[in-house]
Amino acid sequence: MDTDQLEQSLREDVENCESLDDLESVRVKYLGRKGALTALLRGIKDAPPEDRPRLGSESNRLKQLCESLVEQRKVALGGDGPGDLYVAPIDGTLPATNGLTGHRHVLNRTFREMTDILHGMGYSPATGPDVELEYYNFQALNFPDEHPSRDLQDTFYITDDILLRTHTSPVQVRFMENAKPPFKVYSAGRVYRNEAIDQSHAAEFHQIEGLYVDTDISMGDLRNDLAVFVQELFGPKTEIRFKPHFFPFTEPSVDVDMTCFGCRGGGCSICGQTGWIEILGAGMVHPNVFRAVGYDPDQYSGFAFGIGVDRVSMIKNGISDIRLFQGNDLRFLFQF
Ligand code: PHE
Repeated sequence: MDTDQLEQSLREDVENCESLDDLESVRVKYLGRKGALTALLRGIKDAPPEDRPRLGSESNRLKQLCESLVEQRKVALGGDGPGDLYVAPIDGTLPATNGLTGHRHVLNRTFREMTDILHGMGYSPATGPDVELEYYNFQALNFPDEHPSRDLQDTFYITDDILLRTHTSPVQVRFMENAKPPFKVYSAGRVYRNEAIDQSHAAEFHQIEGLYVDTDISMGDLRNDLAVFVQELFGPKTEIRFKPHFFPFTEPSVDVDMTCFGCRGGGCSICGQTGWIEILGAGMVHPNVFRAVGYDPDQYSGFAFGIGVDRVSMIKNGISDIRLFQGNDLRFLFQF
């Protein structure tokens, strides 16, 4: 049988199929082990060399034609379409595989929560680099050279003038250099210190800094914004208190405590039985900081506050060791 005849009989055979069973017999008739096309393909090697190329391409064409005619007829007869030839059986009684779905890191969630609150209070984001100039991290913030307050924020120096920032306060200076009051901004990010690492100290942690500058800003405004912030974060009954403190870049400066959300001031293990939790540092922007950015301290006033994100996240989530945040232990991460 020559290939033209073969093609014609193939087309007729497929056309005459009335059932999927018929079709299967036709497929076997041509493509099965003893099928006509299979024989043709096998016979190529015995054909005279000059006929082989033509015979080869012709029989391959017929093979493909056969497969596609059978496929088309199969769909016409109500069988599965191409691509559905193998459907994996689903056994609903087997136990589910434990697919791990990623989710936001617990620290990141606290970050979001805190910055969301600040957005709601009218603060916009400002940014600065982690690798910072000594000038912005210390000098412009009124840390005199050789002043002992620098020791509290020892850090990693890249050169004498370049270091890893120890707090988010340098962003205050960078922002004010290019802005005119009034404004309310916050900056959030990573900070670094040369710490002896333990349960509550890490060499790398996170802060959020708020800054509000206008004319006639008072400590009452600071107290008001901090109370709102802390109540949004820890609950409406939370109260705050100021304790005198020292920061070179604010005057007066305060440490801010909040009533413990575990015992509401009665004393419990969260607050070490004191009823209060120290939560942030704050103060009125020092006139020297205003001078460093070219503002007249007699015209403008403002406040700033800085809060540790890791600490807030630890308090809120009952996490006892700051090192867990960066430990990448899934047993820890999947608890939140
Ligand atoms: N930058 C200070 C710190 O890291 C916190 C602070 C920010 C204090 C703003 C006052 C005002 O310790």
